Amino acid sequence: MSETQGRVRVGREAELPEGSQTEVSVEGVSVMVVRYEGQFYALRNNCTHKDYPLLGGEVSAGRITCAKHGGRFELATGKARALPAVKPVKIYRTVLEAGEVYVEEL
Ligand code: FES
Repeated sequence: MSETQGRVRVGREAELPEGSQTEVSVEGVSVMVVRYEGQFYALRNNCTHKDYPLLGGEVSAGRITCAKHGGRFELATGKARALPAVKPVKIYRTVLEAGEVYVEEL
């Protein structure tokens, strides 16, 4: 989990299997990274309904469900797709380079 020039290393792609969820810190902000259908997605690790982590939430149909009240967010866009979540969650860019996965600000 080292940090260089705004880019945060998540880990080796081979060590982040389908469905895995990882937490990293980007400029002091907790960000969750999930691998879904082979792609990596990174979202701020805070539900926009109440202050509750999204890490560990169930992922299906390209969305993550907040375990607290069932709000859902689209992994690719951060858009809220189920009440009581209304506001989008901030997303980050994921970068795959030489077998390593990184997260950076969009
Ligand atoms: S805290 Fe996530 S839906 Fe309420």
